[in-house]
Amino acid sequence: MTTQKVHDRVAELRDLLERANRAYYDEAKPFISDREFDEALKELRELEEEHSLQTDNSPTRRVGGQPTSQFPTVEHPVPLLSLDNTYNSDDLRDFDRRVRDRIPEESFTYAVELKFDGAAVRLRYEDYTLKLGATRGDGERGDDITQNIRTIGDVPLSLSDNAPSVLEVRGEAYMEKEAFVRLNEYREENGLQPFANPRNSTAGSLKMQDPREVARRPIRMFIFDLILENSDVERTQKSKMELLRDLGFPVCEHFEVCRTIDEVLDIIEKWDDLRHELPYATDGVVIKVNEEKFREQLGTTSKAPRWAISYKFEADQATTILESITLQVGRLGSITPVAELKAVVLAGTTVKRASLHNEDEIHRKDIRPGDTVVVEKAGEIIPQVLSVVNPARENRPSLFKMPENCPACGEPLVKFEGEVKWRCINQECPPQIRERIIHFASRDAMDIEGMGDAVVDQLVDAGLISSYADLYKLTTADILPLERMAEKSAQNLVDAIQASKLQPFHRVLYAMGIRFVGKTVAKDLASAYSSLDKLMKASSEDLEEVDSIGPKIADSVTSFFKIPSNLEILNDMIEAGLQFEATENEQQSSKLDGKVFVLTGSLPSLTRKEATEWIEKHGGKTTSSVSSNTDFLLAGESAGSKLTKAEKLGIPVIDESTFNEMVNRRTE
Ligand code: IVH
Repeated sequence: MTTQKVHDRVAELRDLLERANRAYYDEAKPFISDREFDEALKELRELEEEHSLQTDNSPTRRVGGQPTSQFPTVEHPVPLLSLDNTYNSDDLRDFDRRVRDRIPEESFTYAVELKFDGAAVRLRYEDYTLKLGATRGDGERGDDITQNIRTIGDVPLSLSDNAPSVLEVRGEAYMEKEAFVRLNEYREENGLQPFANPRNSTAGSLKMQDPREVARRPIRMFIFDLILENSDVERTQKSKMELLRDLGFPVCEHFEVCRTIDEVLDIIEKWDDLRHELPYATDGVVIKVNEEKFREQLGTTSKAPRWAISYKFEADQATTILESITLQVGRLGSITPVAELKAVVLAGTTVKRASLHNEDEIHRKDIRPGDTVVVEKAGEIIPQVLSVVNPARENRPSLFKMPENCPACGEPLVKFEGEVKWRCINQECPPQIRERIIHFASRDAMDIEGMGDAVVDQLVDAGLISSYADLYKLTTADILPLERMAEKSAQNLVDAIQASKLQPFHRVLYAMGIRFVGKTVAKDLASAYSSLDKLMKASSEDLEEVDSIGPKIADSVTSFFKIPSNLEILNDMIEAGLQFEATENEQQSSKLDGKVFVLTGSLPSLTRKEATEWIEKHGGKTTSSVSSNTDFLLAGESAGSKLTKAEKLGIPVIDESTFNEMVNRRTE
């Protein structure tokens, strides 16, 4: 390479890595894979070394992103380093040789842990109390996100008296795969962009400005390091993990100590298979010299320790042929292009279809039928098409174009301002009717057993139903002629439909399929407006007073009640006897799910019993004494020792008006 070419390439790599870093750390929206990032970093490091081009602010010297400006910045006195990555056994054996060269005659062991795929955090405890929670940032400075960290149930807010009074821990915040899928469903229901994978979802959630919102995200935590000031005890990774567990920190149960690199490789092989069965995503294994005294001998580079390395698993990727692009019409009329793939096995399951999201996405990746494509499971769950392998092949069909009319009913498609998806707004469009009824009967909605896709298809095709309200008019005689129906199954289905009339108001509200009204919003609406009558009288401005409801949802609800065909359906359902009033005792929202309250002192307008009822109605519970498990102390006049204890433990103390806001209780 000529000098000019080297300089150009170095600049190009630096620019790529800087942008990738920003996208990953600050915007939580990566555009290249970890592996591509590592390869670019390696190439840059080699060029810098070979041609003496090192500079202090090169990405090879930095660990990650810049702290964002919305949170106060904190210095990390002990930097949060990164880890060097390996992808094969030869590289891992090289690491083992480097370690053995530096500590030749000593006997040492390796601690082998899972590499959790989330966001790194640093927690500091002083006086047995959580004082600081921070992101990694650039490794030396991060964001102070203490308020957000406090909302994570796995994180102890205080430690018992036998803990060291000052200590720091490091760990990884993450989301379980299933919780991530549910969160994305909720986001799609609410017109929000779904997250690409659990890692981005966690990183994005930790950086939200409103801790109450963070509390609703299913964030969990594993702690993997303990840092003690002025400690002269000789520790190992194993002894630190045991101490952390005893202190009440969430520590992963999968931990092993090995004597040789071959033992380490056996464990890696085991996890490469077994990881798919874990409830959380792992992207590799971390191998650390177990004994701290040897770590000191090995030291660190500016970026990563020499005593640890990560072994990254191959991402769950496969190549296959994209046979065609079909269009799917959703319940609310959105048109989603779908890749019909030649079947391929990915992370243990056969994949035949993958969402292509929208037209822009297909153009951005230039995906066309007949292409060989790379398919990946995002966070090991949802298949997606990453890229095209052979974009330059001959005789490629022309670029995908969305049709002007709905593929199902032929009505013109529309695209609303600010939205990426095309929609069919014809209420009578058959697949939409079908999807609405399937949604209505689904488990989280009216939970009608036996009302699967095939039955709904037949009922719609036979002209027996054209809305979900029609379900309640069905008789066994109507159902019996359908395929695979016998006297008994027809009766069971009618019984299940009738039984669903007892489902509570918030489920009916969710089942109705109003755009942007997911399970949580439905619960919030049912709790704020205790009947359909009241809800229908509310204006958009009224609705926006409810905690989780913004203008978009409010407008969608009020418009729903203005459409005559919806009102007809509602009338039919009222006649059928469905629940359109919230009953006293039903749980009305999951706002306080899992939150533990302690009550103390006398509150201005609530009795203890009433406060308890409100807490329980929203999924929380009360206990009698303050401990590290307490989430909130609800305190009134003449609060005594419980208040002192809560303050000592750093537990949030709230008064009645804050509580009213939390549960949307109106006092007037
Ligand atoms: S040890 C100096 N252990 O991986 C040692 N890190 O690529 C660095 N990570 O920033 C951390 N699981 O966020 C360690 N069991 C584990 C880990 C782990 C995930 C993350 C951590 C770190 C990043 C480095």
